[in-house]
Amino acid sequence: MKPSSFLGPKIKDAQYLASGTAVSQLPGAGLPEIAFAGRSNVGKSSLLNALVGRKGLARTSKSPGRTAKINLFHVRTEAGEMVFGDLPGYGFAARSKEEVKSWGPMIEGYLLKRDSLRALVLLVDVRRGVEEDDDELAEYWAQTGKPLIVVATKIDKLPKAHIKPALDKLRKETHAKIVGFSAETGQGRAELWEAILSSTDPPEAGRRNG
Ligand code: GTP
Ligand code: MG
Repeated sequence: MKPSSFLGPKIKDAQYLASGTAVSQLPGAGLPEIAFAGRSNVGKSSLLNALVGRKGLARTSKSPGRTAKINLFHVRTEAGEMVFGDLPGYGFAARSKEEVKSWGPMIEGYLLKRDSLRALVLLVDVRRGVEEDDDELAEYWAQTGKPLIVVATKIDKLPKAHIKPALDKLRKETHAKIVGFSAETGQGRAELWEAILSSTDPPEAGRRNG
């Protein structure tokens, strides 16, 4: 049991590890890995930075569609080491046709073939909820049988009284673990860390072959 004052594990180090457009380009999968996916501009990079407490780790931007590759970050915490995968956002109309065509195979290959993946964190804007693309991704992920964590981002943009109903609705729609989150205020950080740690724990499970 964690104390109720748990704010997330102490972060010892967080560093950019590698990026690629296919699993074959990514470094060996030894550590437990957590993927972060969602529409362009939903707040994936901001959330990663807030989780590790490093403002400039994952690049954030006001113009959507900047992250075109899978970016991996190596995170060392007092509760163990892991890798975070920041996936390129989808639903960005101004992307080139080539990019749109390559997005599907890239993400699908990664989600299915990356053995070290322990959980998918699917981010949705709390004001928009789950949209078609999100739903398709969640369905695709379901075939892995691994946990799905849905994060409702930008809850600081909703009046307080609207937050709980929005989260309840998401819970009904997805039957997943739902965490409300704000990269601005840090709200939801501890709860998301708990969900992440419970899927990466024990850190070596499944990869112990000597
Ligand atoms: P792509 O990599 O382009 O797919 O975007 P992303 O999902 O990584 O989004 P990013 O973190 O770059 O954030 C997009 C915009 O939303 C930026 O202007 C952020 O400052 C803003 N933003 C992200 N999270 C929050 C939040 O919790 N609250 C508020 N108010 N703004 C946020
Ligand atoms: Mg990003």
